[in-house]
Amino acid sequence: MITLKTAEEIEKMSAAADLVSRTLGEIAKWVAPGITTRKIDQIACEFIRDNGGKPACLGYGGFPGTVCCEVNEIVVHGFPSNYVLREGDIIGTDTVVELDGYNGDMCYTFPVGEISEEARRLLVTTKESLYVGIEACQEGRRIGDIANAIQTFCEKRGYSVVREMCGHGIGRKMHEDPEVPNFGRRGTGPIIKNGMCICIEPMINQGSKNIVIERDGWTCRTRDRKLSAHYEHTLAIVDGKTEILTTFDYVKEVMGDRYI
Ligand code: MF3
Ligand code: CO
Repeated sequence: MITLKTAEEIEKMSAAADLVSRTLGEIAKWVAPGITTRKIDQIACEFIRDNGGKPACLGYGGFPGTVCCEVNEIVVHGFPSNYVLREGDIIGTDTVVELDGYNGDMCYTFPVGEISEEARRLLVTTKESLYVGIEACQEGRRIGDIANAIQTFCEKRGYSVVREMCGHGIGRKMHEDPEVPNFGRRGTGPIIKNGMCICIEPMINQGSKNIVIERDGWTCRTRDRKLSAHYEHTLAIVDGKTEILTTFDYVKEVMGDRYI
């Protein structure tokens, strides 16, 4: 069931989205060769709590961290660990903040130091595809229009779209209806309506679309171990307009001319 939000609820969604955006800005200060993903996770957890929020991923279905750490071939849901980031890695940091009963969900994939041209091109394309999806997200159109726009854009550039993982509705719960896939046909799926809050999150692979879930039951990686990238925003449809509630501005401020 898709729950449509009132103006008051969207205001709360917006506050949660701002805190998760600032959390990614904090993470941006720390992503560099030599840091463990566990340290990044701890910093994010503390930041969220210090600002009155709740790290919503922590303990969600048993997930053991605040931040999903997606290094290189990890698509989504990687555990924070002792892994030490290395020059040339890419790391997606995906996290959800609950504030005043509402959730904001967001992901940014960072370059670690200098990265290869191929890796950079994957990040640029995946991030662009998020905005292509947002552009297609218009009141009166359908969820399949978003999905098709992302798929078409990424496949044209020679990348593949993960099938098993999707974007989603969001609100009091981190995952609500509808599912928002990154592949599909135009004119299909639920109609986009005022009051809807959704997360769009393309997960795009350099090689084949196939994934494997590791034995821990969570970590999702590419089957061919080629790179995967992931960017995510939380959006609301208000008075016929699509508002992006989260922002990469805090990340951009920290990264300066290294910003992708
Ligand atoms: N943005 C991720 C998702 O929508 C957040 C997952 S949190 C976790 O799946 F706890 F489930 F890992
Ligand atoms: Co999400």
